[in-house]
Amino acid sequence: MKKKARKTARTKKSKNESEPNFRDDDLSLAEQEAIDLKFELSRLKEKIRIQEAELDVFREMSNICSSSFELDHLLDRYMDLVLKIMRSEAGTLYLTDESKKDLIFNVVKGKVKKKITGMRIGLGEGIAGWVAQQGRPYVATDVKNDPRWLREVGDRIKFDIRDILCVPLRTSNKTIGSIEIINKMDGKSFQREDLELLISLANQIAMVIENAHLLLDKEKTLSQLSGLTAISALLSSSLDPRVVRRRTMEAATQLMDCETGSLFLIDEENNELYFEVALGEKGEKVKQIRLKMGEGIAGWVAQHGKPLLIADATKDSRWFRKADRTSKFVTRNMLCVPVKVKDKVIGVLEAINKHNGATFTQEDLELLNSLANEVGIAIDNANLYEEKRNTFLQTAEALADAIDKRDPYTGGHTKRVTSFSLAMAKYLDLDPADSENLKLAAILHDIGKIGIPDDVLRKKSKLTDTEFDSIKKHPIFGYEIMSHIKSLKDVIPGMRYHHERPDGKGYPERLKGDKIPLIARIISIADTFDAMTSDRPYRKGLSDEEALNELKRCAGTQLDPMLVKIFLKAYQKGEIASQKK
Ligand SMILES: [Fe+2]
Ligand SMILES: [Fe+2]
Repeated sequence: MKKKARKTARTKKSKNESEPNFRDDDLSLAEQEAIDLKFELSRLKEKIRIQEAELDVFREMSNICSSSFELDHLLDRYMDLVLKIMRSEAGTLYLTDESKKDLIFNVVKGKVKKKITGMRIGLGEGIAGWVAQQGRPYVATDVKNDPRWLREVGDRIKFDIRDILCVPLRTSNKTIGSIEIINKMDGKSFQREDLELLISLANQIAMVIENAHLLLDKEKTLSQLSGLTAISALLSSSLDPRVVRRRTMEAATQLMDCETGSLFLIDEENNELYFEVALGEKGEKVKQIRLKMGEGIAGWVAQHGKPLLIADATKDSRWFRKADRTSKFVTRNMLCVPVKVKDKVIGVLEAINKHNGATFTQEDLELLNSLANEVGIAIDNANLYEEKRNTFLQTAEALADAIDKRDPYTGGHTKRVTSFSLAMAKYLDLDPADSENLKLAAILHDIGKIGIPDDVLRKKSKLTDTEFDSIKKHPIFGYEIMSHIKSLKDVIPGMRYHHERPDGKGYPERLKGDKIPLIARIISIADTFDAMTSDRPYRKGLSDEEALNELKRCAGTQLDPMLVKIFLKAYQKGEIASQKK
C-alpha cells in the first residue's frame, strides 16, 4: 500500500514535468515495458499522422500545380498549405534575386503579410539569409536572443516571434531561397518531426519552382526564336538599305526588350564607323555620328570582331561620351556585337538600356549575335541590290544621254524631264516603288528615238507629216527595246504612253483619261513644258509664263488637269528650273 502510494505520487510528479522521467528503478519490468510500448506507440502514431498529412499535402500540391501554371499564384497556395500542415502562425518563402546577392520576401503569410512582402535582405543576412546561403536548416527556439535574428525586421513587423524553423529551398544543383515558419499554433516548440516535414515540403516546392523556371526558359527561348524568325523574314523582305537599317534597330530594341538600338556601319575608305540618328517626326533628316576605328565600345567591337556585354557603360573606359551628348541619350548598360558578312566585320549592332532597370544576360548576347548574323545577310543583299540598281540607273542615264546628244538642240532634255517629274511626285504621295518606276521611265522615255533616222531627228526645219509619223513611232520602239528586260515591267508603260492625251487624241494607242498610266501622264506634262520652253532651229522657245499658260489651256484635253495643277504648284515652289531660267 505504501509502495502504491509512493508510485502514484511519483507518477503525478512526472506529469507535471516537461520531460517525464521514464527511468524509474522502482518500477517493475512489466510496468516499464508497458510504458515504453505506450511511448513507442504514441511516437509511431505521430509519425503516421505526419506521413498521412504529408501524403495529403503532396496530393493537394499536385492538384494545385495541375490547376495553375502561374508560379507566383502556385507559391502563394503552397505557403497556405505549408502553414496549415505545420500548424504555424506565420511563414515566408524567400527567393534569391537575379543577381544572387539578395533574398526577396516572395510570399508572406500571417499578420505581417502587408508589411514585408517584396522586402529584400542580403544573402547571408538574418536567419533566412543564412539558411539560403549555407543550404542548411536552422531552428531558433528563442528568437529574440538569437544572434542571427534581424532586429530591424522584427521591430518593423511588431509580431511576437518565439520560434522559427527555417529550411533551404534546394533544386538539383543550387539553393534558390528558403522557407521560414513562425510559432506553432499550440504554443509548443518545433520538434524534429516538424523539421523533417518542412524539409520534405520545401524539396517538393523547390522542384516545382525549378520546373516552372525550366518551362519559362523554354517558353522564352521559343518566343525569342519565333521573334527572330519573324524579324529575319522582315529584314530580308526589303532591299532598301535605309529600310533594312531602320528595321534592324527596331528589331534589336524589340528582341532585347531595351530602350534603343544602334547600328554602326564601317566606312572602309576613312577607317571609321558611322551611324545615323533620325531627327524629326518622319526621320527624314538624319545626322551622322562618326567614330574612329577602335574608338568607343562600338569601335572596339569593330576592331576586334568580338562581342561585349557592358553592365555599366559609365564605368567602362572605352565608352564614348560624345555619342550620348550628340543624341541627348543616357546610356546605362549595353550589348554590342559585330555584324559580319563572310567573316568580315561590316558593322556593329548595339542594344542599349535593358528595360525595368535590369541588365543584359549572356543569353541576350547570344540572341543579339544571332540577330546580327541575319542583319549581316540582309545588309549584304540590300547593298548588292543597290549596287546593281545604281549600275542600271547609270547605264540608263548614259543611254539617254547618248540619244540626247544625237540632237544638239534638245541637249539636257532627259535630265530636265526627269527632274520635273520627280518634283511633281513629291506632291503625289507615291510609294517608293512608284517613285522609282517614274524616275526610270522619265530617264528612258525617249529611248525609242534610237530607231529614228538622223536626217529626221536632226532636221533643222519643220517636219513633214511623214517625218512626224516617223517620230511618233519612238514610244513603240522604246517599248520594243525595253520589253526584253523583265524587271522594267512597271517602268515601260511610263515611256510607252507618254504621248497619249486624256481626250484620246494622242499616240500610239489613243488611250483616254485614266486609262493612261499615272507615271505616263506625269512625264507627259514635264515633257511638254520642256519642249515648249526649248529653242528649236525653226522657232524660239516660249517663256516660262507663256508655257505655264499653255499648260493651263491644255488641261483636260492634251494634259491631265489635276497633274497640271500639281506642276504649277511645284513651279511656284521653285522646284522646276526650265532652260529659260
Ligand atoms: Fe517623247
Ligand atoms: Fe521627250
